[in-house]
Amino acid sequence: MNAVLGLAQLLQQQPLDSEQMTMVRHIREAGDTLLHLINDILDFSKIEAGQLKVDRQPFQLSAVVEHVDRLLHPAAASKGLYLQFEALPVDLGPLFSDALRLEQVLINLTSNAIKFTEKGGVAVKIVAQANDDPTKLLLRFEVRDTGIGIHQDALGDLFQAFNQADSGITRRFGGTGLGLAISKRIVELLGGTIGVESQEGKGSTFWFVIPFEMSAMAIFSREPKPSGESPAYSSLAGLRVLAVDDSQINLMVLERALLALGVQVTLAGDGLQALQALRNAPDGFDLVLMDVQMPVMDGLTATREIRQDPALAALPVIALTAGVLPDEQQAALAAGVSDFLNKPLDLEQVPEMLSRYI
Ligand SMILES: Nc1ncnc2c1ncn2[C@@H]1O[C@H](COP(=O)(O)OP(=O)(O)OP(=O)(O)O)[C@@H](O)[C@H]1O
Ligand SMILES: [Mg+2]
Repeated sequence: MNAVLGLAQLLQQQPLDSEQMTMVRHIREAGDTLLHLINDILDFSKIEAGQLKVDRQPFQLSAVVEHVDRLLHPAAASKGLYLQFEALPVDLGPLFSDALRLEQVLINLTSNAIKFTEKGGVAVKIVAQANDDPTKLLLRFEVRDTGIGIHQDALGDLFQAFNQADSGITRRFGGTGLGLAISKRIVELLGGTIGVESQEGKGSTFWFVIPFEMSAMAIFSREPKPSGESPAYSSLAGLRVLAVDDSQINLMVLERALLALGVQVTLAGDGLQALQALRNAPDGFDLVLMDVQMPVMDGLTATREIRQDPALAALPVIALTAGVLPDEQQAALAAGVSDFLNKPLDLEQVPEMLSRYI
């Protein structure tokens, strides 16, 4: 998927005639759909195997909301729908939970709401609920739409896997009926409950309530950069990056994406080659993009070696990972990785990540 989506994105940056442009756009859209499906099926089999774990860390709720908004706004706008977020009136400070999984549920519900609405729009509301335990904060998330609604008979089974309100849904809207089943399981793992109220033809409100521990302070902060409209990526010109991956296609995608940003790229095919390149020129690189699973020497071993070498120890190492399994992330951080870029690479995230480390 990294090759399919990465190369399609690169192709879009080339001069193409309009028919070619349309074809590439379709490749990307179909690729995105396929990626989404693969991720859902993987998540779902993890759930079935009892392997979906939550990873609780301090996080800012506002950052989650902003991210969901940024991600889904274009989809709503392209259908002429409003998408509004009514967040809490007060700044809560850092909360403690699994922000990525929480975000996944919000994205599932909000994208459903956008998908099943033709007129009007979607309002996402977050309110605090009263509870007896002062160390816990109960938050209710509500996603209300003015869409097609759901027949009362269908409401009960919606949260079951592969279930859609009626058999015409796939034909009209696509999808596999996994989003809600996954959301329900995540909400339950986070200690909460999920539900829906709906009237056919009027709209639906999907909601979930999750208890959060109030954390006094963030244990570590990897603050995202405040999102400016057009970050000054021009400052990336001349940056010297070592890109390490055992897949030739992935290296090609990285190389082209980096060259387009004016970055100077050196390529290495495994951890050992990377170490050799770095040791030959300890001052020759500003940053390393490091795949994790590689033959000969994997990315984490190479990162540990880098951290132990006084001449290289301060070098930022960004891991390229295909999963967000908490154990894997933890192992990577322990090895000395500075940050993560998810595979398949979203080429728009690369300059953002690089500019964070220069
Ligand atoms: N906001 C909504 N309005 C109307 N119907 C909805 C809404 N959200 C979910 N549904 C119904 O619930 C069904 C299950 O939703 P779910 O998110 O699990 O699957 P999906 O969106 O069809 O596919 P997937 O999420 O796997 O791509 C949908 O097919 C649809 O019939
Ligand atoms: Mg869905």
